[in-house]
Amino acid sequence: MSDLEPVETASIDELRAVQLERLRWTLRHAYDNVGFYRRSFDAAGVHPDDCRDLADLARFPLTTKQDLRDNYPYGMFAVPRERIARIHASSGTTGQPTVVGYTQGDLDMWADVMARSLRAAGARPGDRVHVAYGYGLFTGGLGAHYGAERLGCTVVPVSGGMTERQVRLITDLEPDVVMVTPSYMLTILDEFDRQGIDPRTTSLRVGLFGAEPWTPGMRAEVEGRTGMDAVDIYGLSEVIGPGVSQECVETKDGLHVWEDHFYPEIIDPVSGAVLPDGTPGELVFTSLTKEAMPIIRYRTRDLTRLLPGTARTMRRMERITGRSDDMMILRGVNVFPTQIEELILRVPGLAPHYQCVLDRPGRLDEMTVRVEARPGAGDDGSAAALAALIKDNIGVTVRVDVVEPATLERSIGKARRIVDQRPGA
Ligand code: DLL
Repeated sequence: MSDLEPVETASIDELRAVQLERLRWTLRHAYDNVGFYRRSFDAAGVHPDDCRDLADLARFPLTTKQDLRDNYPYGMFAVPRERIARIHASSGTTGQPTVVGYTQGDLDMWADVMARSLRAAGARPGDRVHVAYGYGLFTGGLGAHYGAERLGCTVVPVSGGMTERQVRLITDLEPDVVMVTPSYMLTILDEFDRQGIDPRTTSLRVGLFGAEPWTPGMRAEVEGRTGMDAVDIYGLSEVIGPGVSQECVETKDGLHVWEDHFYPEIIDPVSGAVLPDGTPGELVFTSLTKEAMPIIRYRTRDLTRLLPGTARTMRRMERITGRSDDMMILRGVNVFPTQIEELILRVPGLAPHYQCVLDRPGRLDEMTVRVEARPGAGDDGSAAALAALIKDNIGVTVRVDVVEPATLERSIGKARRIVDQRPGA
């Protein structure tokens, strides 16, 4: 444990003191340098000096994705444009894009928290790290890259795509660590199978999987097929990129939020009220050290709850169930793709390549789960088995279409789980 940073095992009181000092600096920095924050604090009747305690943060207004869109491209930046060392963009698929900026100091902090994440996942200096997150405006590739370099690893910057080559490079270069979305990892594993190479024979020891929701069943699938440890990594562009929180390999019990840089709250998504730790709700983040683009109480739309620290002092967030935007409502019942995934993985004849197709033939929404058969599995009643599991566990009736292996759309990054065919969608 001796190579952990002191803050990772500091006392709660020490951590809270660091947070308060940094929070007060951040509120002041945002108010003084970003017109949007000055106007929104003024409109809410709050001033940075009103923050005397961490709980006072709740008095400040929330920030939404729409606020970032309205201030596109540079309106949220708090430093002169010449001090911006890099730009990334968030992965939003619809509407106006949002861009985020970093000073050199921000890039350094990001590399530090990513190195900390890799360390928590079990990576060590000298390890070889295969990065298959996309490089470019997406924060995954470059975020992983500089963190691995900072830890003192050998980086193989493969990026996403060219799946045959991914297999070849993993086989030939013998990486210890892989960083990739869980859905693309499955595609890579299928390619191993296709080439007749047992993925259990590779050098891989640990994988850091994130950028999209995944389930304990998916962890069991990946660990079972590879023999490596699979841990969860979370982050978002608006806050920094990957490396906001990380699951520790020794406990695998949720993700420790690197709270000395990113202050988490959970709110009621409807009323906006702050909820106590342990209660599920929407995750909200305030940056504590960011220079270029301080972010105050940003609504992530990700649903989870906060739990006390275990392997580290910092609080944990439970793995993300889903985004509020991904919640489907079928006859009044809320359904997330992750709930479907968990049940698919309980049916031996089904592979976790799936899509939830929404339609509205009459007045009510209906869902068809399109899911691939496992290679070699016969027509063994898997469709009926899954439909029954969904009915029993979630309480909704869905159609299940079992399709041939390797026929559903594959993504080299984030998988598209919901196909909305409802009129007007
Ligand atoms: O996805 C950053 C990232 C890259 C995280 C690589 C982890 C690994 P964005 O493209 O801005 O940034 O998307 C952020 O992705 O609000 C969540 O909805 C989702 N997300 C990210 N990590 C996880 C995770 C990157 N571990 C959005 N579990 C977030 C579930 C995740 N959802």
